[in-house]
Amino acid sequence: MLTTKMEDALNRQINEEMYSAMLYLAMAGYFAELNLMGFKNWLFVQYREEIGHAEKIFNYIVNRGGKIRLYEIKEPQVIWKSPKDAFEAVLNHEKHITAKIDELVEIAESEKDRATFAMLQWFVNEQVEEEANASEVLAKLEMIGDHKHCLMMLDKETAQRK
Ligand code: FEO
Repeated sequence: MLTTKMEDALNRQINEEMYSAMLYLAMAGYFAELNLMGFKNWLFVQYREEIGHAEKIFNYIVNRGGKIRLYEIKEPQVIWKSPKDAFEAVLNHEKHITAKIDELVEIAESEKDRATFAMLQWFVNEQVEEEANASEVLAKLEMIGDHKHCLMMLDKETAQRK
């Protein structure tokens, strides 16, 4: 059985992951408007991953016999100043999610919930990858500056993400 505190925190995380999905879908739309379809692809893949994260927590709550609570999803920002500005927002958002996962781990520890603690280790590792992926694209965008040709090359590279 999940404690009420643990169950509530996990349900709130479903909302965080669904908001992440909405944010990246909005960003995919922003890049599509710029005709940068590789970046659009990268963010669309990321959007799907976030839905997967929400489903993982949903299924975990169900498997533990908990109650699902779904909350209103905040409307995401839909426009950014530049591709670099957008990827800064991706990295900052992933840092926020990492902090949320850390909070969940702390709750699992304080509630002495070993199963949830173990399940959360997947998310702890996933966040390392999430931040690294965003940092990699951001670092390249910083290097590129205003060079349109290089931006097109990075667009081709981001198109490969599956
Ligand atoms: Fe579900 Fe990108 O963290």
